[in-house]
Amino acid sequence: MAIDSSAFQNIIDDFTVDAEHLRIVAADFRYDLRKGLADPDASSLRMLKSYVGLPTGEEKGEYLALDFGGTNVRVLRIRLDGDGKFEVLKKVAKPLRIAGQYDYVGKGSTAEEQFGFIAGLVDEAIDGDHETKFLLGHTFSFPSSQTDLNNARLIIWTKEFATAGVEGQVVNDLLLAALKKRGIENVEPRAVINDTVAVLLAAAYKRGATYIGSIYATGHNTCYLEPYAGEATAPMVLNLESGGFMKLAPNRFDTALDEASEKPGEQRLEKMVSGRYMGELFGLVLAELFGEKKDYGFTSIDMSSIINDDTKEKHNVQGILKDKTGHDIDTEDAEHIQELASAIVIRSARLVTASYVGILWQLAGDKPLEKQHIAIDGSVYEKMPLAKENIMRALYELLGEDAAQVDTVLETGGSGLGAAIAAAMSQK
Ligand code: GLC
Repeated sequence: MAIDSSAFQNIIDDFTVDAEHLRIVAADFRYDLRKGLADPDASSLRMLKSYVGLPTGEEKGEYLALDFGGTNVRVLRIRLDGDGKFEVLKKVAKPLRIAGQYDYVGKGSTAEEQFGFIAGLVDEAIDGDHETKFLLGHTFSFPSSQTDLNNARLIIWTKEFATAGVEGQVVNDLLLAALKKRGIENVEPRAVINDTVAVLLAAAYKRGATYIGSIYATGHNTCYLEPYAGEATAPMVLNLESGGFMKLAPNRFDTALDEASEKPGEQRLEKMVSGRYMGELFGLVLAELFGEKKDYGFTSIDMSSIINDDTKEKHNVQGILKDKTGHDIDTEDAEHIQELASAIVIRSARLVTASYVGILWQLAGDKPLEKQHIAIDGSVYEKMPLAKENIMRALYELLGEDAAQVDTVLETGGSGLGAAIAAAMSQK
């Protein structure tokens, strides 16, 4: 098959965010931020209160951290030593789904099963010790509305989770009930935070001068420290649920993906940028190019391998394509397909950066931009070729020389550490 060049070029154009559009997205994002501060219902950003500010770096003590935000759930015992230092004393992790064996995230699963499984992991992390008192921080990475640091109610599942009986519930009530059922009465949940908040807390604990925390992985979302400048309110981290940002220009593939998803109409930015969806978008384009109606099952890891193929003949691209679609393609088509994967990743990095710049503008107000880090965790940021460099490029495009004030830092494992820090902060 030879890919039709002009049809192909049109598709690449559909995935291109030019300089003007980039600026519009950043400005719209800032607009929604300001709207959301006044009235979250008037904005596509949820602006969820976390009831936590930033740590001092001097937090100390041993805590349990539950990291629940994707198919892999982790429970850690972490000792905070102050001075930005910490040690992970124990870590247990298990997937919530193993194909053919069990599934605690899919449609058929229930809250009781899901939290029962998690309580089992907690039990492992404390080595079955049902005596010693443990304070637990819970990183729960789904949109939740909070009334205080420890009370978070799941608004709606994202990332294709579909377990029944969790939406609308206070998640730590479900956790407590499950712990109790297992005879664990010595673990006290103290804090629930989003993973973006965890990443921000972890980065601020270690290095200071960080006000924006972001996840760029299976899902995508960002939080920031709202200073409430000039108001009596204390600074607080707000979880934007920026994956739900709407002022975008989805193309027909974005629309098709959204329509076929668990929650059509929701998480439109996330569906254009995050690891959970990029492979699917890529597959949708290929299906159109091949004139087939098939789900080839491409993942963002496949896209990463495709982009990384620097051989002249593009044998790796050809191999992956053959494997997933059954089609033999020549080198020229393989180059096209590589360009497509790159275009999807570059668009993703540019849209994500536009959202960061919207927040930076909001933080700076009419003052000069403060020197700062943006803390990011996640496989796309860490491993996807072209992601980091296109974030930097877009930052310079939007901020000009002010971009030198900002750097992005990888905050690996921030979800666990941040939960421990939040538990420590709950004692103040
Ligand atoms: C989804 C969730 C959000 C989370 C993000 C990254 O967007 O809704 O709460 O922060 O994924 O895990």
